[in-house]
Amino acid sequence: MDVADAVRRLEEATRAGLESLTAASTLEELEEAERSVLGRKGPVSEVQRSLGDLEEEDRRRLGRAVNEAFQAVRDAAADRGSVLREDAERLVGERDRIDVSLPGRRPPLGGLHPLTQTERTILDAFAGLGYRLVEGPEIETDWYNFEALNIPEDHPARTEQDTLYPEVPGRKDLLLRTQTSNVQVRTMEAQEPPIYVVTVGRCYRRDVPDATHSPVFHQVEILAVDEGLSLADMKGTLEAFARAVFGPDQEVRLRPGYFPFVEPGAEVDVICFLCGGQGCRVCDEGWIEILGAGMVHPSVFEAAGIDAERYTGFAAGLGIERITMLRHGVPDIRLFFDGDIRTLSQFARSA
Ligand code: DAH
Repeated sequence: MDVADAVRRLEEATRAGLESLTAASTLEELEEAERSVLGRKGPVSEVQRSLGDLEEEDRRRLGRAVNEAFQAVRDAAADRGSVLREDAERLVGERDRIDVSLPGRRPPLGGLHPLTQTERTILDAFAGLGYRLVEGPEIETDWYNFEALNIPEDHPARTEQDTLYPEVPGRKDLLLRTQTSNVQVRTMEAQEPPIYVVTVGRCYRRDVPDATHSPVFHQVEILAVDEGLSLADMKGTLEAFARAVFGPDQEVRLRPGYFPFVEPGAEVDVICFLCGGQGCRVCDEGWIEILGAGMVHPSVFEAAGIDAERYTGFAAGLGIERITMLRHGVPDIRLFFDGDIRTLSQFARSA
């Protein structure tokens, strides 16, 4: 074999190899290019295999050329490899990049139920007047819901408040409270006057659901017991409440009304917030009834063990559904209980 010729072939193969290494655009192509020069069947190996047949001096000369070819191709492959690997990493990085630029996507927030909004507005108003929030049971005894409130067994007021009775063995006296007035006597038993409390909660009546009736509904009740409280205090309190809830210029009107646990009793109207007092489809010549109230009946004081000679008091109760329907023009009470998002989202307002 002609050594000079072999060296030339090596140089030629190396040059071609380096060219295809530089042209490789993926790591696979690069590997392929490197193998075609340095692989077992490639030109460099072929020359290397023939070294054994040569004379010492030729072998050394050609051996060096083989090593140089190996070295040159390997170095070039390594350089090109690191460039290609960097490119590949950058591509993956770009593909998987997370966009953290503001403001981002906001998940829709829930809102307070319209009844809860009204409830909070009312409670805030009474809290502002110094009333303390108390709670009472929804499963109640006949005594606290009726008897102690001056509504004995055969009283006609009982038929107006058709009652639901839970089945509890051995407890014929239990019922689901029909009004939050049950909290009155419980509060007077638990503390001495002066008493200024407000309570809120579910009430139950055996009503067939329709546009204005629901077997479950909510009431707010207040009770004030102190020395020297008069009807004027009651009116002033209800006026302050009405202004907080319905607007700063509100007036209230008291009409005689009958509730067994108060004397005198009153039905309380405010100026219609829809027509502003002109008179409209919803109100009674510009007035709209919002609650029942009155001076605590002496029989109720007696049932609660309060000295009716020393103390006087007033109480009031109102329906949260009714107020909410009036405030927002909601035509059907059942809409509050369906949980339909199309209804509720119209009241969306975060806490
Ligand atoms: N409990 C009455 C009802 O459910 C509302 C009521 C009227 C409460 C007069 C009172 C009151 O405290 O004084 O219809």
